[in-house]
Amino acid sequence: MNVFILVVFFGSALAFPFEINVNWPFIVADEQTNNMEAFFKDQKIQAEKAFTSSIEEARRMKNSVFNYFELKQREISDDFYDYVESVKESGRKFSDSWSFLPSEEAGDRMENPDMVLSVPSIIIRNGYPCETHIVMSQGYLLNIHRIPRSKNGGGIPKKTVILHHGLFASSADWILNGPEKSLAYILADAGYDVWMPNIRGNKYSREHAWLKTNSKSFWNFSWHDVAVYDVPAIIDYILKEKGEGTKLTYIGHSMGTTILFAMLTMRPEYNDILTAGFALAPVVFLSDIKSPIKSLSTVASNVAQMEMLYGSYEFIPKNSVLGKMTQSCDVDGRDAAVCKNLLFYICGYNEKQFNKTLLPIFLSHIGTGTSWKTAVHFAQEVVVGGKFQQFDYGTDLNLRVYGSKAPPQYDLDKIKLPLTLFWAENDLLSSEADVKELYKRLPPTTQIYKISDPDFNHLDYLWAIDAPTLLTDKILFYLEQVYSTL
Ligand SMILES: *[C@@H]1O[C@H](CO)[C@@H](O)[C@H](O)[C@H]1NC(C)=O
Ligand SMILES: *[C@@H]1O[C@H](CO)[C@@H](O)[C@H](O)[C@H]1NC(C)=O
Repeated sequence: MNVFILVVFFGSALAFPFEINVNWPFIVADEQTNNMEAFFKDQKIQAEKAFTSSIEEARRMKNSVFNYFELKQREISDDFYDYVESVKESGRKFSDSWSFLPSEEAGDRMENPDMVLSVPSIIIRNGYPCETHIVMSQGYLLNIHRIPRSKNGGGIPKKTVILHHGLFASSADWILNGPEKSLAYILADAGYDVWMPNIRGNKYSREHAWLKTNSKSFWNFSWHDVAVYDVPAIIDYILKEKGEGTKLTYIGHSMGTTILFAMLTMRPEYNDILTAGFALAPVVFLSDIKSPIKSLSTVASNVAQMEMLYGSYEFIPKNSVLGKMTQSCDVDGRDAAVCKNLLFYICGYNEKQFNKTLLPIFLSHIGTGTSWKTAVHFAQEVVVGGKFQQFDYGTDLNLRVYGSKAPPQYDLDKIKLPLTLFWAENDLLSSEADVKELYKRLPPTTQIYKISDPDFNHLDYLWAIDAPTLLTDKILFYLEQVYSTL
């Protein structure tokens, strides 16, 4: 824990490695007092020692990780080569089917255009109307995708929902399961006006009014800032756009729920502005996660530091050291694509509910970047296990930022909004114990629903084969309950 704080603290100092001697905040020695000077000099030496040793540590760890995955990668590519050879071998036994294709080369045809189309294009291709709205918050230009009504026409309903995606994700989460099964389409056809924000920094919200996308300042945020500034700005925008009588329900998945709970505590006025909140796979307390990310959390600070050493403030799962660790999985072909994806590595993989036909589409849309600060903030929540608190900058910087040595806790007592929690037994990130602890701390109006499939996992909320019966029908049921009492 102490090491963690220290490293995160130095992690931020690392951004200015050349300024550290000049700007070191504790060198305010009174030149008249030699004792004081000596004291601060000693402090500085100590700090620099800790600073250097943690770089060394980070380098050591980086080397061991790289060696490990290079070895594994060689094994995998050998396997893959064998696999390709065996496919070629068996292919020769069949008639040459490629020659029956029309004039294009086989490789020129896309498996499915949804792999390259943007969210609005996919929505329109499926026959639904789609609008893109840009909301500015702290200079970030957030792209919100909206399906304002059913594909069968009609007016724009007053009943409105915000669907907020999770970590490494985008508005695509809500449509990739196709028009029959995706929540966004089903809600639109059921009479809801559907708004799907994209979090700052993801592939749809990478522009800023005055910051460059590759600057440190652009990436200096965690989900806390999204909760305090961005989602309130989006809610205000929707209400202004739609006018009086709009009834707005927030539905979040994973980090989308973290953002909701943080917002309701930091901006309590939104308890009255929203109509209801639904949390799919709530992520608030992380004391009992089963994901392999748990063992990585303690080193996540080092990893973040490494990423910073190489000057990347954006956390791109695929390119990050964490991403590279997942390359070590021992399978080939299509399973390797699943196994090597950081998201599956973190969240687990439920073969029974996973439609492999859609895999290339999922893989081309998931895994968009976020800030290292977001990743570290989650790692901190895992390390402190069972506390829901703001970003920990380390004791000294906490004093400057928060006026206290420890980061403040989000005060769940402030939450008054009617809430419904959805959880599943096999969710590696949103565990039964943590969800039940959250439920206990929320107002008595809170409802809780357990997904009936015992194998349902964290990502099945987005693309389960049986999503309509296991999840969507239930969401519609609870939504109707909310709107029928108004
Ligand atoms: C990052 O954000 C923190 C807290 O909001 C602030 O104190 C710090 O100056 C920021 N750093 C940069 C480089 O923008
Ligand atoms: C998998 O997805 C494809 C493409 O959308 C669809 O045609 C098929 O019915 C799905 N399979 C299952 C088992 O739902």
